[in-house]
Amino acid sequence: MNITYKENTLTVDEYLSIESKMEDMDKTTKEQAERSLSNHVHSISAFVEDEIIGIGRLIGDASIYWCLVDIWVLPEHQGQGIGREIVNKLLQHIKNTSIKGTSVSVFLMCAQGKEGFYRKLGFRCRPHEYEGSGMELEMDIE
Ligand SMILES: CC(C)(COP(=O)(O)OP(=O)(O)OC[C@H]1O[C@@H](n2cnc3c(N)ncnc32)[C@H](O)[C@@H]1OP(=O)(O)O)[C@@H](O)C(=O)NCCC(=O)NCCS
Repeated sequence: MNITYKENTLTVDEYLSIESKMEDMDKTTKEQAERSLSNHVHSISAFVEDEIIGIGRLIGDASIYWCLVDIWVLPEHQGQGIGREIVNKLLQHIKNTSIKGTSVSVFLMCAQGKEGFYRKLGFRCRPHEYEGSGMELEMDIE
């Protein structure tokens, strides 16, 4: 199967389309997706012919802090190295665009049971010897 990857072309329709096909995914509104995509730093999209089958996005300040979000591969295409390729391309973007000679922080909130996938890509779980837990506050906006 021929997989092609595109850099920073992800559209709102593509985003909502792949989200609707992922299992157990919260549904994002179109307005939320529009604002989110216009503010992210970079994206990778994977295609089989015209169908989008995987994505990954980078958010952050594009200098010190980089955060991986929405690393998604459609269930029928999982286990073929596509997720790894998407993350590696996002990490390459960070290497290509960060200020030379600096150290940067790349982090993510891991979905349950996916730790092994990210460990193979060089990430370590928190808490660990030197740092505490990642923390999250989910807010309902009235
Ligand atoms: C997590 C996800 C992106 C992985 O993508 P994928 O294309 O299936 O993964 P890959 O085929 O690139 O796997 C790369 C390596 O990670 C391993 N791996 C994949 N999922 C794993 C898991 N859950 N636990 C441990 N190892 C895993 C693979 O075996 C492979 O190992 P190898 O290099 O020794 O062959 C995909 O399963 C997915 O979209 N899941 C649903 C959405 C989700 O939870 N995303 C993560 C949000 S934090």
